[in-house]
Amino acid sequence: MEKKKTVYSGIQPTGCLTLGNYIGAIRNWLKLQEELEEYFCIYSIVDLHALTTRQNPALFRKTALSFFAQLLAVGLDPEKSILYFQSHVPQHAELTWVLNCFTYVGEAGRMTQFKEKSRKHKDNINMGLMSYPVLMAADILLYQTDLVPVGIDQKQHLELTRDIAMRFNAAYSPTFTIPQPYIPKTGAKICSLSDPTAKMSKSDPDENATISIIDPPQAIMNKIKRAVTDCESVVEYREGKHGINNLLTIFSAVSGRSIEDIADEYRNKGYAAFKNAVGEAVVEELRPIRERYEKLMADKEYLMQVIRSGDEKADRIARRTLSKVYRKIGLVER
Ligand code: AMP
Ligand code: TRP
Repeated sequence: MEKKKTVYSGIQPTGCLTLGNYIGAIRNWLKLQEELEEYFCIYSIVDLHALTTRQNPALFRKTALSFFAQLLAVGLDPEKSILYFQSHVPQHAELTWVLNCFTYVGEAGRMTQFKEKSRKHKDNINMGLMSYPVLMAADILLYQTDLVPVGIDQKQHLELTRDIAMRFNAAYSPTFTIPQPYIPKTGAKICSLSDPTAKMSKSDPDENATISIIDPPQAIMNKIKRAVTDCESVVEYREGKHGINNLLTIFSAVSGRSIEDIADEYRNKGYAAFKNAVGEAVVEELRPIRERYEKLMADKEYLMQVIRSGDEKADRIARRTLSKVYRKIGLVER
């Protein structure tokens, strides 16, 4: 039998887990988890990544735990996948230092996300922001990852990861597996409900712009009803109809129906009826998740036990890769 492929991905515990995260990333995590014969999956709450912006400590701790519960609630299963906290496995920070020495300032400075975030937070362009993709490379490479399921916005970071890994392998000898991105065909970019030309973002301060996967049904219906569209009345997927395209994408992703099929049904029914149908489909998809989430949050002990067990499994793998790296670069054994 062929060796199983290792799948790795991570998510930052800030704001809320959005419908964009769910459709663009987490649903693929689930799909890969269920193909047990082929894939071995490792998913992380990448809390160290979130430190590039200032976090309120109490809120940060609470959000991180809530994110972990949300991952379990969507169906990620600690019996099938490794689920853990990045900051609990010290090798991430250690390998980042080594990989920083294999990454050029020019390369890191060319990252779109770095440029965007530097523009937005001019008063806090810290070293962590620049090294962010290097920490991401360390996450991926520590586990000898083959496949990385992410949204399209992370593709560039993955290319940098590959470059760093190849550079290291060429300088020493094959040490790291070279990872590949795994990007969904539809839903790779779910847009903001308030500004459908921008991506739906966890950190958007406008509450109407995003849907959290644990929003109550009424909130979901209201947000979709208020979603910005255009001043025509035809439901169809077409260049320039950002709002409608986005709602069609969401509807298609949660219902499994094709965009053409949905557009055919709602083409001339008006936006109100269409939005109502989109809202109902989203509510039905998210209802069981919210129910499971509430049960999990009521049992902190169980949550902590699952986290500890995931941490240990991740640590064992990460330890092996880091000692290989230290040996190859010539650090004296301890
Ligand atoms: P982030 O919310 O930026 O930490 O992203 C976590 C994961 O969700 C990454 O794989 C992103 O590519 C994906 N993602 C984030 N926002 C969206 C979105 N609006 N549409 C699709 N995927 C997204
Ligand atoms: N940078 C990713 C994002 O913002 C999150 C992330 C961190 C990640 N480490 C990772 C994703 C490793 C995949 C693999 O979405």
